[in-house]
Amino acid sequence: MADFTEVLRGRRMVRNYREDPVPEEVIERIVAVVRRAPSAGFSQGHRIVVVTDPVKRAELAAVAEPWYLEHGHAPWISRAPVQIVIGVREASYHERYTEADKIESGGGEEIPWPVPFWWFDSGALFTLIQLAAANEGLASGLYSPAFPDELAALSAIAGLADDVALTAVVTVGYPADEPADRAAKLAKRRKPIDDLVTWLR
Ligand SMILES: Cc1cc2nc3c(=O)[nH]c(=O)nc-3n(C[C@H](O)[C@H](O)[C@H](O)COP(=O)(O)O)c2cc1C
Repeated sequence: MADFTEVLRGRRMVRNYREDPVPEEVIERIVAVVRRAPSAGFSQGHRIVVVTDPVKRAELAAVAEPWYLEHGHAPWISRAPVQIVIGVREASYHERYTEADKIESGGGEEIPWPVPFWWFDSGALFTLIQLAAANEGLASGLYSPAFPDELAALSAIAGLADDVALTAVVTVGYPADEPADRAAKLAKRRKPIDDLVTWLR
């Protein structure tokens, strides 16, 4: 176990892995964070699929990887020994927010969802999974196709239920070499903190 500062520094989107498998108990510890992830109203709409089956991993990669290969990336999706498909069940939120206490706090109706918290919560879960992987000394990355037909193809391969939306897929594994200038390139583009944080002191 590392300390939090170290884990946070280790949190990077990694797009190259060694093919060495990750021990099952390590994967289990990483994915167990799903029970600790925050969710609006404790709706617990998170649904994840952990893919280590080589056939299924190859099928997922066949959908998502061609673009990266055409753009000079390593075959990072097919090489990652673990892929975690992150899904969210919006219906869990509607079910929870039509329970008596939530209807009362909504002024007699289900809230109008000015922020669709299912998407918000799915991102929060992703961050927890990535930090949990970093805490185990593992690298991780994320892909989420921009086109609905590709998302549908990934959902079908993962066997997600019809009422579960796929938000992203997380790759996990031991890091392999990445372009040496990547960290420097990112550092150059990192916005100054004052662009991102406003203080009302
Ligand atoms: C919601 C979301 C979607 C992303 N989609 C992709 C993606 O489809 N493919 C990819 O290679 N990286 C994707 N990324 C990774 C970002 O490009 C990456 O986080 C950013 O460049 C900063 O790098 P760092 O996370 O290593 O600091 C995504 C990140 C987020 C948060």
